[in-house]
Amino acid sequence: MNAPLNNSSSRREFIQTTGRIVAASALAGVALPHVHAAGSDQVSVALVGCGGRGGGAASNAMQQSGPPKLVAMADVFEHRLKGAYDTLKRKHNAQVDVPDDRKFIGFDAYRHAMDCLKKGDVAIFTTPLAFRWVHFKYAIEKGLHVFMEKQLTADGPTSRRMLKLAEEATAKNLKVGVGLKSRHSRALQELHQRIQDGEIGDINLMRGYRMQGPIGSAYSTKWPGQPSELMWQISRFHSFIWASGGGYSDFNIHHIDHLCWMKNAWPIKAQGIGGRTYRNAPDGSPYVDQNFDSYSVEYTFADGCKMYMDGRCMIGATPIYSSYAHGSKGMAIVSKQGDCGRPSSTFRTQNPTSESMIWKSKENKDGSIDDPFNNEWADLLEAIRNDKPFNEAASGVMASVTTSLGRYAAHTGQEVTFDEFLNHEHEYAPGVDKFTFDSPAPVQADKDGKYPIPQPGIKTKREY
Ligand SMILES: NC(=O)c1ccc[n+]([C@@H]2O[C@H](COP(=O)([O-])OP(=O)(O)OC[C@H]3O[C@@H](n4cnc5c(N)ncnc54)[C@H](O)[C@@H]3O)[C@@H](O)[C@H]2O)c1
Repeated sequence: MNAPLNNSSSRREFIQTTGRIVAASALAGVALPHVHAAGSDQVSVALVGCGGRGGGAASNAMQQSGPPKLVAMADVFEHRLKGAYDTLKRKHNAQVDVPDDRKFIGFDAYRHAMDCLKKGDVAIFTTPLAFRWVHFKYAIEKGLHVFMEKQLTADGPTSRRMLKLAEEATAKNLKVGVGLKSRHSRALQELHQRIQDGEIGDINLMRGYRMQGPIGSAYSTKWPGQPSELMWQISRFHSFIWASGGGYSDFNIHHIDHLCWMKNAWPIKAQGIGGRTYRNAPDGSPYVDQNFDSYSVEYTFADGCKMYMDGRCMIGATPIYSSYAHGSKGMAIVSKQGDCGRPSSTFRTQNPTSESMIWKSKENKDGSIDDPFNNEWADLLEAIRNDKPFNEAASGVMASVTTSLGRYAAHTGQEVTFDEFLNHEHEYAPGVDKFTFDSPAPVQADKDGKYPIPQPGIKTKREY
């Protein structure tokens, strides 16, 4: 028997079945009482996906005025939920009101967690992206506001589905925040306004670089045989395109999104190159994941403007992690360092020098840090409390499609249009809404334990 989260009640017990852990209450589908708000401004949140970003997003929510309370949690791994709960409880004791019968484990755990909310509360989705549309659909049915992490989709069919859901959310006046945090950086907001006001002229070239050593779970050696292949792929989601869009999508979307935002447009097509130089781990065992270790993608906009996105996960190669926009009258450093790191700045020339600088973003006047993770929540809650239009789902899907388009172009070695990718019929994780612990993994290993990989020029109609 696996250690229960609470020893006091059989209903709350976690049962281990053939190596898999499920919450008894989640299995039984027990209807739990709604959590009622103490006052009209009191917002409750439920966390679905209790990993690194999930814990971070819940904490960001609880740092806002109100303050919001965390009332339910869901995950497919008990140890992830327990870890996030313990950390959040230590940090935000009074606001974490998640007794064991509001902790849910399993693929249907998201339903039970959302069933603990009332209309007008917020569901947080921080699982790998494959489950986004499933969770979003249920939130809309329940009339819940949503905060969901990037990226939202990895393929054409789920992108089209999510665009429809975005419309349904707007029709129900639901507020939807997406974790494309650049759009909530006050520095980038000011830069965006300056670019719209013509400070650097018409944008004709943009560049994004995310080049670093291996990060996250982008590199995987063979499945060790446990947990199940499905659960292992979920826990190493950067390795699998169905789960995350792979390293290209997960690591580069912030730059791609904020550069397109600066341009106020999405590209019409992409072509790209990429490859896998290193196929073995330092100990000699083969990597089996679906990623390239370097990518260079050229996007083209309707007016001919180009955007280049270079991504690399390689030890020893020069690290560069910044983004730039070039216009007819000058240039901008969009992200100085990181996904959207300050300071942003503008210049009269194409070469950034102190002499040609027009503007540089400042720290907040009160000395506080412009933290986009917190700003996302401030903006979402303001929209909820003041009933302002706020739905980032469609632009989140467009940013996800743009990112996937570049990955797909590099993986197939073809020039691909935005519309071709969006209308592609290949769904990477069909039936994800019906997954159970016994479901087969969406990609299966061959006899050597390797998964299907992209082969540019050979596999040209499908990504793998
Ligand atoms: N905006 C940002 O800067 C930023 C930063 C980090 C991560 N993220 C995004 O957040 C998401 C999560 O990333 P992470 O780093 O926290 O990963 P993680 O592995 O730490 O957390 C994911 C959690 O979701 C759980 N999970 C998986 N499938 C589930 C399901 N069907 N139902 C319930 N729980 C499920 C996992 O067990 C895990 O606990 C990803 O989409 C990632 O791209 C965004």
